[in-house]
Formats: sequence, C-alpha cells, structure tokens
Amino acid sequence: MEFEQLRSACLSCEKCGLCRTRTNVVFGMGNPKAEVLFIGEAPGQTEDETGLPFVGRSGKLLDQYLKAVHLDREKNIFITNIVKCRPPENRDPQPDEWDACMPYLREQFKLMRPKIVVCLGRIAAQRLIRPDISVMKEHGHWEVKNGVWFMATLHPAALLRSPGQKPAAFEDFVALREKIHEVCDHTYDN
Ligand code: URA
Ligand code: SF4
Repeated sequence: MEFEQLRSACLSCEKCGLCRTRTNVVFGMGNPKAEVLFIGEAPGQTEDETGLPFVGRSGKLLDQYLKAVHLDREKNIFITNIVKCRPPENRDPQPDEWDACMPYLREQFKLMRPKIVVCLGRIAAQRLIRPDISVMKEHGHWEVKNGVWFMATLHPAALLRSPGQKPAAFEDFVALREKIHEVCDHTYDN
C-alpha cells in the first residue's frame, strides 16, 4: 500500500467507537520520506477540528523545540499519534482503541522506515518502547530496536503544566539533533 492510499483508508476508518465522536481523523503530517518520526498520544480538540496533529497550545510549544534544532514539521520530519481520532473529553485512549488503530501506525512505519522515533509522552512511550517505562526518569535515553532508535521525551502538554521541566525537554532535543547527525542521511540537507 502506498502512503496516500493508507491516508485515505484511515480518513474513512470506522474500526473503533471513536469514529462516532470525531470531527476529523488525524492521520499525521509532514514528509512521508522523513527519517525522524514523532508519535504522540491522540488528537485533542484543535487537532480534531483541523485534522492536523499537534496544532493546539502544546503543538505551538513543540514547534519551538523543533525549530531550535532545525526541524520543520512541513519538511524534514513526520508527526502522528498512536490513536488517530480524538477520545471524547481528551480521556486516555483505551486498549481496544489502541489495538484497533495500531495497524495504521504499523503501516506508516513500514512505508516510512524511519531511523529515529521520538515518543511524545507516556502513552506513546509505554506502547512503543516498554510498558513500564518512566518518561520522567528515562526521557532522552536511546534504545535501539531492529535498527531503529527510540527515545521518549516529555509531552509538550506536560511541559505547559510543569514549565520547570522545559530545560530537561530541551536537552532531549539536543540529544535528538546529535543522533540525527549520527544516523540520518538527509534530514538536515533539505
Ligand atoms: N496531544 C497529542 O498527543 N497529540 C496531538 O496531536 C495533540 C496533542
Ligand atoms: Fe479508526 Fe483509529 Fe479512528 Fe478508531 S481511532 S476509528 S481505529 S482511525
């Protein structure tokens, strides 16, 4: 399946109950050929309204961190979520919703073959790195799985609630920049 076919399949998905309350499916945005994939939890209100990931307040903060290390969500990365439709009242996605939605992420992963995956927050990190990971303790650490480098960082929404964590999150992005120089071919060329 090609990326655009996958996108259109996802945009009309009714595989879990979140299809009944969503406004838009948030498939993801960025460069499908990116070597760096950012993965959050699930769309919030602004994302549901626009169909785009991380465009509310936490998205604005994320963009500042990206910019600081010369990453641009339109050009050299791709951003998506574990779950593509907004859970009502922004509750945590439930296991049956993760399970229903995971094949889309798996397919995105297969088509993109990223070199680096950055998990934004606990839900993505627990699902993609280790169920018992503590993002507070282990953010910024690298773990390689099947040749792909994984790191968890603090969720930008958590940084809005606890601004004292911002310097720690910034260090994660500096570590990311170093890892990109080490393992990526074209992220910083275009
Ligand atoms: N939080 C997330 O985890 N994902 C989004 O797309 C927006 C906010
Ligand atoms: Fe389909 Fe995922 Fe949306 Fe559920 S959350 S309806 S599985 S796209």
